[in-house]
Amino acid sequence: MQSPLAAKLAGFGASIFGEMTALAVATGSVNLGQGFPDYNGPDEVLRIAQQEIASGNNQYPPGRGLPDLRLAISEHQQRFWGLTYDPDQEILVTMGATEALAGALLGTLNPGDEVIVFEPLFDTYAGCIALAGARMVPITLRPSDSGRYEFDAEELRNAFSANTRAILLNSPHNPTGTVFNKAELDVIAREAISHDVFVISDEVYEHLIFDDAQHIPIATLPEMRERTITISSGGKSFNTTGWKIGWACAPAALINATLMAKQLFTFAGGSPFQPAISAGLRLPDTYFVELASNLQSKRDVLTAALEAADLQPITPEGTYFITCDVRHRRPDGDGMAFCRALPAECGIVAIPASVLYSPENEHEGRHLVRFAFCKQDATLHTASERLGNWT
Ligand SMILES: Cc1ncc(COP(=O)(O)O)c(C=O)c1O
Repeated sequence: MQSPLAAKLAGFGASIFGEMTALAVATGSVNLGQGFPDYNGPDEVLRIAQQEIASGNNQYPPGRGLPDLRLAISEHQQRFWGLTYDPDQEILVTMGATEALAGALLGTLNPGDEVIVFEPLFDTYAGCIALAGARMVPITLRPSDSGRYEFDAEELRNAFSANTRAILLNSPHNPTGTVFNKAELDVIAREAISHDVFVISDEVYEHLIFDDAQHIPIATLPEMRERTITISSGGKSFNTTGWKIGWACAPAALINATLMAKQLFTFAGGSPFQPAISAGLRLPDTYFVELASNLQSKRDVLTAALEAADLQPITPEGTYFITCDVRHRRPDGDGMAFCRALPAECGIVAIPASVLYSPENEHEGRHLVRFAFCKQDATLHTASERLGNWT
């Protein structure tokens, strides 16, 4: 029989998360593989979702999202980033940031277009670019002397061609934890403007920022709002990853293009969760400050344990991931084999970062593995103990 898989998806294997989660269950390991918190979000956010279900808000929401959520998103963009978006024309509620990304990519790309992407990258980017018939042009982030993962401005400049249509940016960056600084964003903005391309900016970790790092939405830079689709998600800011309430903010023409594709996927969803996320977005500043400071303490606990286990962690400036270099523990630098062995050897699950690179650059991340630290303190203590006892 002929292969049922669409040719555009050939080469995309099964997600590594399934294999690693199965290993975690089989070995009773602490699962630090997939990035979801094992604790709840704010009570009032949870309570509103429960009330909404009980009171009958269980049918389709409007295609663009509930008006009050779009208003709350626009208030949030203004309050935190000084960005003004019209809730009726310039904001679209989606099923997670994942659907906003898919909508933005499939809604704006033509076959043969090129998209410049920083890698390692979130796994859905490559698949959506392929589905659009476009080509991904990866720019690899590499460690600087300080260990921080950065891009080479010259490499970025050289990545443009007559076919470049968009730059896909993720800051704070999963998995390296780099928060792109003003100088880096200036370089990206300058290139986007001079080549007249769109920017799709995945900012799902906008509030998960540590130490003195500062999140700067690229849309705040001069002449960038008009060409940028900014994407975020309630899942990351309110510990509700399973609700899949995300959004895109952009000028009306870019939102309309995103909507054209998005309406073909889910059309709309998550009715009872939308008012709950509105309430979350309106929580006082103290909530967002505490969210980041609590996570920073968790980061520090796991970083110390990974360092003590000689796993050379890169201290993240944001997100809830720590990337480690396994070569001190495993001189052949095989991160995939390391992750397959770690559950039985140490009782912990991590994700090999090589799967987050394009196939031609997999070797760049072969020695890297990713641990998630958005876990209860007790979970992190168990993980730390196991790392401490691991010989
Ligand atoms: C960089 C990045 N973008 C997007 C997403 C997906 O967000 P959502 O769960 O809202 O679809 C994730 C989730 O892990 C992510 O790490």
